[in-house]
Amino acid sequence: MALEINPWGSEDVKDYEKLAKEFGIQPFEPLLKRIKDPHLAMRRGLVFGHRDFDRILDSVKRKECYAMMTGLMPSGKFHLGHKILAEQIIYHQQVLGGRIFLCVADIEAYNMRMNDMEALRNTAINEYLLNYIALGLKPKNCDFYFQSSRSKDPDQSNAFYRLAGMAARKTTFNEMRAIYGEISPAKVMSVMIQVADILHPMLPEFGGFRRVVVPVGIDQDPHMRLTRDIAFRFNKNEYAFPSLPSSTYHRFIKGLKGGKMSSSDPLSYIALTDDPKTVKNKIMKYAFSGGRETVAEHRKKGGIPEVDVSYQYLYSQFEPDDRKIKRIYEDYKSGSLLTGELKQILIEKLESFLGDHQRKREKAKKQVDKFLK
Ligand code: TRP
Repeated sequence: MALEINPWGSEDVKDYEKLAKEFGIQPFEPLLKRIKDPHLAMRRGLVFGHRDFDRILDSVKRKECYAMMTGLMPSGKFHLGHKILAEQIIYHQQVLGGRIFLCVADIEAYNMRMNDMEALRNTAINEYLLNYIALGLKPKNCDFYFQSSRSKDPDQSNAFYRLAGMAARKTTFNEMRAIYGEISPAKVMSVMIQVADILHPMLPEFGGFRRVVVPVGIDQDPHMRLTRDIAFRFNKNEYAFPSLPSSTYHRFIKGLKGGKMSSSDPLSYIALTDDPKTVKNKIMKYAFSGGRETVAEHRKKGGIPEVDVSYQYLYSQFEPDDRKIKRIYEDYKSGSLLTGELKQILIEKLESFLGDHQRKREKAKKQVDKFLK
């Protein structure tokens, strides 16, 4: 049987709401009114689900410090899909005041994708970290680490790997197979380390946080479910975790041609390092259009913004003004805005964002060392 959500798969998710319901993920929208300055990805429904995120909001309200923990698999170019998680991390740091734990999943990438460790490290720094810094991540209140070397402090390191080791006893082969399908030693190891990633901010060696939230793509939910169960199964004299980790889930953004945005296909993504000519060419040539065959037909029937990739990028990332995006939607749907014109709006937004971003990325090089303590 095909798994509904496979963290190492490459399937595109079709029906997010159905998935969420099936696995007991709560809709995010009702929480919006409790969030002071919700991020665009939250307002526009890109972040669509959560587990116990209301408890994090309680902490924010009480001004009690919480931990935001998440991880990245270094793979290829940093693109618009990656930007969504990066911005949420920064939002937690800058707006809600969480302490950031950010892990590079090099052990997982090595085991599941078979890259070599040195190349993984370089990608993590030159693609991910540099772009995170350029997007606004600050070294203060940010603990950036590699799974292969958690900390220079032996007490911290011991505590982390002890937790990964002991977590193994709290699950079984059968349970893992039910969650992840065919299992292998590489998978088991990757999963146990991810369990430690998620739970370790609650250990005294790492600040003893009462609450942890993990913003992730929906594909990571199997890890959340297992981690929560494992946390619960420890008896009190092993580990007394003060709460189960919370999580929020975002959708994947569409690749240019529809389908998935994937680092392995340059024509599916806009990278944050793409130059203006490349961007223009990719959008003009490849961005899937909801327009009609001919101008006459388009004027008559109108376009379909719901399937138009350029419209979706504007909606989810590049046109934060609600009135303007509504106008674009209506003009496109009525046929008064043509596909080429819609694409041009996006291209201009992208060029101005990327120009600015790439300057910041150059400057960010000087800051890298502050994150690699
Ligand atoms: N498995 C995650 C991915 O494929 C990366 C990851 C590692 C992670 N550790 C984590 C995500 C802890 C969230 C929390 O992208």
